[in-house]
Amino acid sequence: MLSPMPPRTRLRDVLLGRDHVCPWWFVWTFDNPLRRMIHDPEQILGGLVRPGDTAVDVGCGRGYFTVPLAGLVGPGGRVVAVDLQDEMLAGVRRRAERAGVAGRVRLHRCGPDRLGVEGPADLVLAFWMAHEVPERARFLGEVAALLRPGGHLLLAEPVLHVAAREVERTIALAEAAGLVRVTSPRIAFSRSALLRRPA
Ligand SMILES: C[S@@+](CC[C@H](N)C(=O)[O-])C[C@H]1O[C@@H](n2cnc3c(N)ncnc32)[C@H](O)[C@@H]1O
Repeated sequence: MLSPMPPRTRLRDVLLGRDHVCPWWFVWTFDNPLRRMIHDPEQILGGLVRPGDTAVDVGCGRGYFTVPLAGLVGPGGRVVAVDLQDEMLAGVRRRAERAGVAGRVRLHRCGPDRLGVEGPADLVLAFWMAHEVPERARFLGEVAALLRPGGHLLLAEPVLHVAAREVERTIALAEAAGLVRVTSPRIAFSRSALLRRPA
């Protein structure tokens, strides 16, 4: 017997915000060679990790930040790339192999309501993804538990389709999970917050 076709996400639904999870085929719209002109990964992440650190890139997409993070943590560090979609993780694998850093990148497919990643992490990056998570309080609780004391969460939400009050709500949930807001880094086309797990 034929199995039922999975539901298809259409471009119109994505543009109208009707679909909550960014489909893998839509990523090229922002993860393309022009992006480096607005999002320089080394500049955004450089002060947040050191050689030997462990970083977790949640909702990593096709690894725009994962691979530069792997460069920043160096051969003695590691990066866990976490996403819901196998197609995204396959893209991360290809990119990491091309850059010669695959040995320090671990791929992890999570569920919509549970990351299931073991810590401790020095940095969790949640770039343009938190608004896609249905159970945000639970998600941020898991992120807070994953961080080592003194570790950071960098949260960035896309300015074009996440309102300022919605981002503030997400930050309040992170604070309720025990994180402390340190600053609001300036990142192009983003509303951002750097939060820290108290030592
Ligand atoms: C807009 S993309 C951003 C990708 C990447 N962070 C970047 O900046 O290029 C959002 C990503 O979050 C992932 N995502 C959505 N909900 C998620 C969840 N609950 N847990 C983990 N990843 C999720 C999607 O599959 C997608 O790859």
